[in-house]
This record gives sequence, C-alpha cells and structure tokens, in this order.
Amino acid sequence: LQNDKKRLQISVRLKKDLIRGLGKHSHHRAAVKMLPTFVRATPDGTEKGDYLALDLGGTNFRVLYVRVVEEQQKVVKMDSKICSIPQEMMLGTGEQLFDHIAQCLGEFLESQDLKGQTLPLGFTFSFPCEQKEIDKSILIRWTKGFSCSGVEGQDVVKLLKEAIHRRGDYDIGSVAMVNDTVGTMMSCGYRDQSCEIGMIIGTGTNACYMEEIKNVKRVEGEDGRMCINTEWGGFGDDGSLKDILTEFDEVVDQTSINPGVHTFEKMISGMYLGEIVRLLLVKMAEDKLLFKGETSEALLTPGQFETKYISEIEEPDSGLENAQKILTALGLNWDPVDACVVRLVCDTISSRSARLCAAALATISNRIRVNRGLDHLKTTVGVDGTVYRKHPNFSEELQAAVRLLAPKCDITFLVSEDGSGKGAAMVTAVAQRIELCQINQYLFFLLTTVTKLL
Ligand code: GLC
Repeated sequence: LQNDKKRLQISVRLKKDLIRGLGKHSHHRAAVKMLPTFVRATPDGTEKGDYLALDLGGTNFRVLYVRVVEEQQKVVKMDSKICSIPQEMMLGTGEQLFDHIAQCLGEFLESQDLKGQTLPLGFTFSFPCEQKEIDKSILIRWTKGFSCSGVEGQDVVKLLKEAIHRRGDYDIGSVAMVNDTVGTMMSCGYRDQSCEIGMIIGTGTNACYMEEIKNVKRVEGEDGRMCINTEWGGFGDDGSLKDILTEFDEVVDQTSINPGVHTFEKMISGMYLGEIVRLLLVKMAEDKLLFKGETSEALLTPGQFETKYISEIEEPDSGLENAQKILTALGLNWDPVDACVVRLVCDTISSRSARLCAAALATISNRIRVNRGLDHLKTTVGVDGTVYRKHPNFSEELQAAVRLLAPKCDITFLVSEDGSGKGAAMVTAVAQRIELCQINQYLFFLLTTVTKLL
C-alpha cells in the first residue's frame, strides 16, 4: 500500500460502500453496515445524578461508577473495576457471558456499597448492533475475539437484565446502549465542539460520523444530522479488497473465529497485527531470509507474537534492543541483521494499517465536506484505541496520509478521555432526563455538561 493511487482507489471504493449502507434497500446486503445510532446533534444539559457504566468489547471488561454534578457541570469518575473475561467464556454461551458480567457488576456494587440502589446504566457494547431504541440493541454479529452462542439476533439489554434477575440480589435502572466510536466522539465534544467523527483503532477498528438525515434512507426525516456507526471493519467482506489482500491476510482470516467477515479490521487492528507479522516472519525464515533458516516452537504458535511487540520493536531509541529481547524470548537464534529485518517487517505492517485507516478516514471527512457543500472543511476526530495510543508513530503516519488523501479537509485529532466509560454514563444521564427514544439530546448533553469536564 505504498502507492498513493492505490490508496485513493480504496478511498473511492469505501465511498461507494457508504452510500450502499445508507440506502433503504441496499443496506441489507451492504458490507459496511452504516448503522443509525439515533444520536442527533442538538444540545441542552441539565442532567445530574449517579450512573453505572459497563464497557465490553475492548482490551478489558470494565464496570464504572460515575457521578454527574449539575452545579459544577462536572462528570466525576467515582470508581471502576476491571474484570477479565477468560477466552473460554468469549467462545462459550451467551448465558455464561452475561452471568459473568452480572457477577462482576454485583461484586462492584457490593464493594461500593451500592447494592440497595437502582442506578441507571450506560452500556458501551463495542459490536455491530441494530439499534431500535436507546435501550434496545440487537447484536448483528460478534466481531473481534467473541463468539458466544445465543446472542446474535438477540437484544443485548434483555440478556443483561435477565442475567441480573437470575441472581436476584440487586437491580439496575434504565439502560442506554452505545458503541465505543459514539462514546469517543461524544466525550471529545467537550474539548472541541466541531468533533463530528469518532474513530477506534484498538482491538478492533471502526468509526462513526455525523451524517445528514436526508441521506439516511432508513430513518424518517429530512432535517438535521444523525450519528452513523459505519462498522467500517466490514469493508471488503463482499470481495472489494481482494486485490490488496496478501496470503498472510488470507491465513489470518481463515484461522480466525469468524472467517470471511470484518476483512478490513483484520488488516488493521490490534487483534490481528501481531499475527500478520508472525506469519511473515515464519515465511521469511522458511525462505532462509531470517534466523539462518530456522524457526522456533513459539514462532510457529499462533498468537505468540503479540501486537504490543510491534510497538516495542518500533520504538525509536530502544527498538532494536527490544527486538533482540523479544526474539530471544521467542526462542529464536538471531543475529543483528535479523533484528533489523524484523523491525522492518513490523514497520511495513503497522504502516499499512495506518495508511488503510487514513484512506477510510479521508473518505468520511470528504463525505462530510461534500454533504455540506463546502470547498474546505475544518473538523475534529475523537480517537481512541491501543494501537493509536501506544504505537510510537502510528498517529503521525495516519495523519500525514490523510492530509494527502483529503487535502480539502483540515482535520484535528483528539485522543478521547475514556469515551467508553464516561461517555456511556453521560449518554445514560441524558436518557434519564428526556424521553428514552429521543436520543438526539445525548450529544447535546455532552457538548454542554462535558464541555466543562476538564
Ligand atoms: C469492531 C466492532 C465495532 C467496534 C470496533 C472497535 O469492529 O464491530 O462495533 O466499534 O470493533 O472496538
């Protein structure tokens, strides 16, 4: 993906897919789902109270207790707890997963002495959901490492409530569902009111943005805007990226728990980057280009080359030293040239990821610009995710590539302050105040109350 022309082609292909996903009839077959979130940009903001937030779908599962203080217009994170979700559970039954979530929440409430209260809850659920209402979210399909049975096609809020009722030792109030991209966009709104795109490059990758309602053919209405969860991870699922997929991408897809879906995500996000590098290293060793033609048991084991190694190996100062330590730990017999080559491989794969994201982000910002009939657009993207945050030069590379592909867009990048945690609680705060179906007020709340957050 070194070639600017190719990147431009990818950007144009995504542009067509966005339109297909927004169409009244074409969306059923669209690879890029373009899910309406019912979040419209119209501010107010008098919410207050205590909220719970759940965050499932990133690196960790978290429970948070958040206080929104009206007088000081502040959102205060009171406390939080991280619970691990063992891999067997990610692949087990939905009932087990939701029982575990309910147990983790129960333990947290106990430790906070909150069990007697029925607090409203914001649920950042970072998977593609067909949102019917704010408290009704049907899981379209699992992505990333999850594949629990009996959840696809079901209402996630109902499954959570059932699990809590099975326990019977505490209850929760109303529930608001939010995708992590939306939480990120909204939680960035407080620092920059022109934040109208949310992007995640972490375990998975995705983006949301403010679209003109008249273009969202599935939703009634002509005026105003609505936040659309693009689910761009699914780009390419209809074969449209075939020409840029490598043999390593094919293996990653085939050996994943969801072959054939989320093609774009599998070339970009943290869940897969380490594995792509590992497959490349194995091939190079087999071709006698590395490690004197030898591999090791660890290198031959899927998942053993973690994505975080890529960031460590690409560190400007300590990278080569880190590479040597990692190769030793993987039981490889390396020489100094091998360490340099491994670094080059990591750089190639992380750069490809950054450039692909850039092509997709350019498509979205150009779309916003054209939607508004502007010759020049100034906008802000709220970003989160371990790959974007932790990799030493991913963000610079992405930004430079977007500038080339969207020269008429002046984009500011803001790293979110816990969009998945606080963002979810804030969405819930608004749901408390307004009628549950009028989610259009959420963004509003964020831009006012949250504006004062820091
Ligand atoms: C996956 C999910 C999407 C989420 C993204 C980032 O692509 O399908 O909903 O936003 O990961 O976590």
